[in-house]
Amino acid sequence: MNRTEAQKKLANLREQIRRHDHLYYVEAQPNISDREYDKLYAELKELESKFPDLVTPDSPTQRVGGQPLKEFKSVRHAVPMMSLDNTYSVEELRVFDNRVRRLLPDEKIEYVLEPKIDGVSISIRYENGKFTLGATRGDGTTGDDITANLKTIKAIPLTLTKPVTLEVRGEVYIPVAEFEKLNKEREKAGEPLFQNPRNTAAGSLKQLDPATVAQRPLNAVFYAVAAAEGVKFKKQSEVLDALKKLGLPTHRQWWVCKDIEEVIKRAEELQKLEAKLPFEIDGAVVKVNGLAQWERLGSTSKAPRFAIAYKYSHEQAQTKLNDITIQVGRTGILTPVAELEPVFVAGSTISRATLHNEEEIKRKDIRIGDTVIIEKAGQVIPAVVGVVKEKRTGKEKIFKMPTKCPVCGGPVHRDPEFVAWRCENIACPAQLKRTIGHFASRAAMDIEGMGEVLVNQLVDNKLVRDVADIYSLTVEQLADLERMAEKSATNVVNTIAESKNRELWRLIHGLGILHVGEGGARKLADHFHDLDKLASASIEELQQAEDVGPVMAESIHDFFQNPRNQAVIEKLRKAGVRMKASRRSGLPAATGSFAGKTVVVTGTLKKFSRDEAKEALRKAGATVTDSVSKKTDYLIVGEDAGSKLDKAGKLGLKTLSEVEFVKMLGQ
Ligand code: IVH
Repeated sequence: MNRTEAQKKLANLREQIRRHDHLYYVEAQPNISDREYDKLYAELKELESKFPDLVTPDSPTQRVGGQPLKEFKSVRHAVPMMSLDNTYSVEELRVFDNRVRRLLPDEKIEYVLEPKIDGVSISIRYENGKFTLGATRGDGTTGDDITANLKTIKAIPLTLTKPVTLEVRGEVYIPVAEFEKLNKEREKAGEPLFQNPRNTAAGSLKQLDPATVAQRPLNAVFYAVAAAEGVKFKKQSEVLDALKKLGLPTHRQWWVCKDIEEVIKRAEELQKLEAKLPFEIDGAVVKVNGLAQWERLGSTSKAPRFAIAYKYSHEQAQTKLNDITIQVGRTGILTPVAELEPVFVAGSTISRATLHNEEEIKRKDIRIGDTVIIEKAGQVIPAVVGVVKEKRTGKEKIFKMPTKCPVCGGPVHRDPEFVAWRCENIACPAQLKRTIGHFASRAAMDIEGMGEVLVNQLVDNKLVRDVADIYSLTVEQLADLERMAEKSATNVVNTIAESKNRELWRLIHGLGILHVGEGGARKLADHFHDLDKLASASIEELQQAEDVGPVMAESIHDFFQNPRNQAVIEKLRKAGVRMKASRRSGLPAATGSFAGKTVVVTGTLKKFSRDEAKEALRKAGATVTDSVSKKTDYLIVGEDAGSKLDKAGKLGLKTLSEVEFVKMLGQ
């Protein structure tokens, strides 16, 4: 492909990807599969790597770019970002309307009602239609420059449909379903759970490394234009339509209301929809529709007079906090749990609720024996939101985090990474139960019949002390356990034996390495093909696998350095657990010249694309990496090879031309 052809192809691929991003993230109506999308993206990346000077800043590949920042720069907003006055009652809405009509006598007043998303407010500047600056609200006058972070959010276009210059305001949030998925993944990867979508969105935008932000399922919605050059809007409803036409995500549902009574009716309608919306709302925002009227109404020092937030109160109940117990997770993290006098809130009986961590308990001053307030918002899990201090008798006890693990009595220490307490004893039965449960789970070694009950019995009866012990369990041992018949014991022993041949990613996932979830395990298996190669990889080599960042790399490295883990892996090996990737069916076992070799491809090849060459090498049994190191066996050199060839020269590595490569493949 020549330059002109490439230019055309690139523009076409970018346009397609933009359209699919919009359909997926803004319209929520994808019309291609994830696989097809990934293919387009890979094609774009590949072509850009061949023509690096044709990469444009608004290319979809440039969403996650640059190095982690040291700190955020401050930016002054062109127009201050104000907040809103709140109300919780219909009466107060009527008071608001009276004030508006008093200030604008004899004028026709229309309102717009919009959902109020509970997210993080942001401001984005587009110049000639290009995303140039993104900022947090900060104190309303100055915020943090979070441009790099906001660019990772695929719902936010890097280019608008028209070359306009303006500042748009909106909200970044995490959809509820995505939040739940994220927490499930974190649980599997042994990481502490996030508290709620709002805090997670806020915390994500504060990350200094855009690569981390890109992993979070952030979305956005826009509802205002703050400073526009050359365009003038007459109504808020026009603004919302214009934002949508520019390609920005806006609320699907909003209403123009002829008076406050209609506002009240629509607000109630919206509240009924709350549980069905893909995001959490904490109410509605009521705005005067006429923008000229906004100017005449003006603002107080902190909030405009032309708008008000009508917040929904969530169902609450009071109950007694009987105790605070501690749950020990797979990685030993201690989580305090509220044991409540059962109480009925928003459709269900609640008797337990997580208290997240020690700080949370201190901040809310929650004491054992207190009467606490439980709240259940539309779609979220119940939470202890506060204490009724007037009901204290003086007998309440201040909660202290235990200094010993409540399960094994082992020492606990504070983990600086997670601001959490962690039990240090890796043989702690609580951890062991969860570790084995995880190993056997469907997303890991998939051992049917090894559920929670059996795992608990195995640990309590000291039949297993680590995951490898399950491979020496006998039918007799299992049949001796309560509620276990000979037949089911035989079945379990058979499934355990079968699991020795599971795919490599299942084993990697099953080991329960901190930060390595199912997706990460698959990528690691694809990259290393062999547990021993993974185990001996340096932190740098680990980072060459797709999606492996420094935190994950270090965690993997630590895991395999730990002598106890090494011993477990040796035991698994002796038990006959397969530790290499399976060869794709139909292919002969790799015995050729590339089998077991580590290979890097550089420069442009004539007969293969880079991906095709890599695929051919993998099929021939090679491990393909992206950067040259002492461990590289061969460097395959195409045209215009650059720094990799220099480095290989310095290290004295063996290089192969394309012709030699093809010849060796054929052998
Ligand atoms: S208008 C000057 N519209 O709520 C008026 N705000 O409590 C500025 N919010 O800071 C805000 N949804 O972060 C507006 N449809 C909506 C909103 C909305 C959520 C947030 C926004 C604002 C806060 C005020």
